[in-house]
Amino acid sequence: MNALAGKHLVLGLSGGVACYKSAELARLLAKAGATVQVVMTEAAEQFITAVTMQALTGRPVYGSQWDAREPNNMAHINLSRAADAVLIAPCSADFIARLAHGRADELLSLLCLARPAESVPLLLAPAMNREMWAHPATQRNLAQVRGDGAVVLGVGCGEQACGETGDGRMLEPAEIMEELAAFFSPKLLAGEQVLITAGPTFEAIDPVRGITNLSSGKMGFAIARAAREAGAEVTLVAGPVHLPTPRGVRRIDVVSARNMLEAVDGQAHEASVFIATAAVADWRPAASAEHKIKKDGSGEVPALAFVENPDILAHVAQGERARSGRLYCVGFAAESENLLAHARAKRERKGVPLLVGNIGPATFGQDDNALVLVDGAGHQELPRASKQVLAQQLIAEIARRLGHTRAA
Ligand code: C5P
Repeated sequence: MNALAGKHLVLGLSGGVACYKSAELARLLAKAGATVQVVMTEAAEQFITAVTMQALTGRPVYGSQWDAREPNNMAHINLSRAADAVLIAPCSADFIARLAHGRADELLSLLCLARPAESVPLLLAPAMNREMWAHPATQRNLAQVRGDGAVVLGVGCGEQACGETGDGRMLEPAEIMEELAAFFSPKLLAGEQVLITAGPTFEAIDPVRGITNLSSGKMGFAIARAAREAGAEVTLVAGPVHLPTPRGVRRIDVVSARNMLEAVDGQAHEASVFIATAAVADWRPAASAEHKIKKDGSGEVPALAFVENPDILAHVAQGERARSGRLYCVGFAAESENLLAHARAKRERKGVPLLVGNIGPATFGQDDNALVLVDGAGHQELPRASKQVLAQQLIAEIARRLGHTRAA
């Protein structure tokens, strides 16, 4: 299921302090099962040594178009023909200018020009000072290289090595990995608008206390990432969790069940798939005190009364969009026993075509899980695996069912 496994990448380094991140990137690529051939410009070798990159990739690094190690002395042809993609990270302002002009006077730009553009995509992870990034010359060159077919992965914003703050930082290695995985993934959900709820909700008792649950949000975030990799436009409505937003996913943070319902209602009219993974609190305190409830020493304890929260999934599933078949709804059930029976009953009760069951206490906060999918035809188990792998499998199952629904 890992889109990078078995891929062969040429990783090109041009000159920039972000070269130090390329060492970590090379490691992550190798861990994901890709093979990496590093090519460095002379400027890149000022920032990191070829020795480091060779040790991390297990392959000699290339730096010159006159490299006599190649029997035919054509490194630019041999290296580019063998690659599934060429990734330049970091890609300096100068290197973008070289690409825009089709320069071929050193190995890295030469092999970019010589690669078969139809079958070997070129991806760029730019890295430079914010003024260089914003300069019209750089933006002009970027537009040119995009027009010529290169995929520009974007830049990060923040503190720069020069001490300034702004756009132009190279994406972090983990972010580049997400972009690459998305690039190589089959676009099973292209054209779909996926709305996902994730995490717990928090129901206030007073301004400093509340009730919540142990949901970490990891499964919902993994599904958001997998849906985006599959080509969907993804909106993630997240309760209070400590997780980074997956790349390319629009995130709306909420606190309570009622906030979550409001956010979902605001988005559902555009969605074509709704996946409710959130562990929404069933009840909330009937009243939330305006000020902190004080312990007065009398030994008296506050009496808490609860009211039921709205059922977001049932509400969406009963809406006109879902009933007319324009919105495919998927529910989750976190149970502690008797999973299949509870999941079947919950599917009926919620009125959704697909319900995904998992054992809550065994998975809350963990990086792996096991799922059972229940639909009108029966049930299917997805055995224990990482949440990311399960998310990809679930997305493939949803895409398969959508194909049937849409074709019908
Ligand atoms: O009713 P129960 O919490 O067991 O159902 C779980 C499913 O319903 C999950 O998909 C969850 O996200 C959704 N749900 C909801 N709003 C609630 C309660 C649950 O959307 N108030």
